[in-house]
Amino acid sequence: MKRQRILVAYGSKHGATAGIAQEIGRTLEQDGFETDVVPAAEVRDVTEFDAVVLGSALYAGHWQRDALHCADRNAEALAARPVWLFSSGPTDDSAERHEIAPVRGAAKVMEHLHARGHVTFGGSITSETPGWVAHALVRHGKGGDHRDPEHIRAWAHGIASELRPPHPA
Ligand SMILES: Cc1cc2nc3c(=O)[nH]c(=O)nc-3n(C[C@H](O)[C@H](O)[C@H](O)COP(=O)(O)O)c2cc1C
Repeated sequence: MKRQRILVAYGSKHGATAGIAQEIGRTLEQDGFETDVVPAAEVRDVTEFDAVVLGSALYAGHWQRDALHCADRNAEALAARPVWLFSSGPTDDSAERHEIAPVRGAAKVMEHLHARGHVTFGGSITSETPGWVAHALVRHGKGGDHRDPEHIRAWAHGIASELRPPHPA
């Protein structure tokens, strides 16, 4: 039987969100799906996919423009297929302690696309992250890699089980 294809698209400034998207893609591949993991800016046509996962890094409470534009550009086709959203993310353990609601822009995307779910994963700022804000946060002990592979994989398995046709009894 032909494998279902899932697009995992992401808006990432410094790579942490790209890493989350890759983990989601790997997990879905292990669960039997064919996946393409691509930057949101490169997404042109989603109609060849059976489902889409779209995620973005959060900066000052906003999704990345690339991810928002991707959602807008493909709104009609996305609204017609199963879509899940994710955000990344707090650089502390808050995303692991409780669910974090989508920021306003992501909530709007959810509504427009009738997305099936949204999750906020922990993010990452390390001494490698460029920019003075990142450097200042790291210097003040507010950085670190808070991406939790178990959380990411569990969420992706949830998508797989929603998409997989039920096994015959
Ligand atoms: C200037 C700046 C602003 C940030 N603003 C937020 C924010 O509003 N909410 C949040 O959860 N994380 C915030 N973060 C943390 C980033 O979202 C986190 O580091 C993310 O994983 C970065 O993803 P990227 O490497 O894919 O760009 C901010 C980080 C920086 C450097």
